[in-house]
This record gives sequence, C-alpha cells and structure tokens, in this order.
Amino acid sequence: MRPTIVTGNPIRFIIGADAVKPEQLAELYKTVGWRFDAAEGSEGDAAGDDAGGEGPAERGPLERLGRLIAGSSLVVTAWDGPALVGFGRCLTDGAFIGYVNNVAVRPQYWRRGIGRRLVEKLMAEYPGVLFMVSANADVVPFFERLGFRGYQTTWMARDPQGD
Ligand SMILES: CC(C)(COP(=O)(O)OP(=O)(O)OC[C@H]1O[C@@H](n2cnc3c(N)ncnc32)[C@H](O)[C@@H]1OP(=O)(O)O)[C@@H](O)C(=O)NCCC(=O)NCCS
Repeated sequence: MRPTIVTGNPIRFIIGADAVKPEQLAELYKTVGWRFDAAEGSEGDAAGDDAGGEGPAERGPLERLGRLIAGSSLVVTAWDGPALVGFGRCLTDGAFIGYVNNVAVRPQYWRRGIGRRLVEKLMAEYPGVLFMVSANADVVPFFERLGFRGYQTTWMARDPQGD
C-alpha cells in the first residue's frame, strides 16, 4: 500500500493588529512558556509581572495583551487555517530605531522558516531603520541567521515592580 503523503496547508501571514485577539495570543504564548495568568504564575516576559502594585500590573492579563497588540507599531501573525501559529511585533519611530519583540512560533511549527518570515516582514515595512532585539542565549543563533549581530553595550531596564 502506498504511503499517504499529508501536505500541510500553506502558512498565511497577516500584517495588522486586527487579525489577532488577546485570547489567541495568550494561548500561543503559553505554548512557548510565556504565561500571563497571575493564577498560574506570570513569567512577565512579554508584558511584565502580574503581581500587585499600581498601574498596568493591576489590569487583567488579557487586557494587557490587548494593549501589547494595539500599542505595537506593527504586528505580523502566521496562521495554519484558523490556528495562530506565529506572532511577531515591533516598536519603532519608523525613521531611526526599532525593537523586535515577543516573536513566538508554536513549537510544532519550529524550524520551518516561520520565525524568519515574521521578523523579515516586520523589518521590511521600515527600510533604513536599525532594528534591535534583546535575545536570550538560546535564540541568539536564530537572530544571527537573520543578520543581527551582538553589540558591546548593556541593555538596562527599570522594573516597574521595583525589583
Ligand atoms: C525563536 C523562534 C521564534 C524561531 O522560530 P522558527 O520558526 O523555528 O525559526 P525559523 O525556522 O524561521 O529559523 C530561521 C533560522 O534560524 C535557525 N534557528 C531557529 N531557531 C534556532 C535555535 N534555537 N538555535 C539555532 N538556530 C535556530 C533555523 O535553523 C533557521 O536557519 P536557516 O536560515 O539556516 O534555515 C522560536 O524558536 C520560538 O518561538 N521560540 C520561543 C520564543 C522565543 O524565545 N522567542 C524569541 C524572543 S524575541
């Protein structure tokens, strides 16, 4: 009997924040270990910790993810049929500097070029802009493949929780 060859649907990429709901992003982020539900213990990786205090941390995780989506300069999503399988966003002035941030691909879809296309589509919208990323060691090779290089400077951040 001949083997059945299953060909997946082509991945669709959509530029624009309207395509994705906070609930869909929360579900995708959980697949890569980023959690936003305070009850489950927030990692705070994308939008900060959800522990008490004044300001954004008091808002619900989904409301904050909605702000992450709406407040980005550009959002690109990847879809396999109705399923969100990748998300990328950037913040930029559109002229000089841009930050690529919170790129995530559903693990079952890794190493299929989706992450690359998400980042390249973001940057293609802003020719001439210097894009930066703060990358953990395990994804440094991914960003190097996309042409990013390490600089001998130190990222500094002030934690809104004061820690
Ligand atoms: C990082 C991530 C987005 C990569 O997505 P992906 O769809 O698997 O990446 P791609 O398939 O487009 O890979 C592009 C290139 O990088 C390489 N690459 C991807 N991940 C890599 C890794 N962890 N280590 C080494 N190389 C890697 C691929 O082999 C490919 O190389 P090629 O150009 O020679 O073919 C995905 O692993 C992920 O979601 N990780 C968890 C979330 C995260 O840490 N995001 C980054 C923080 S902003």
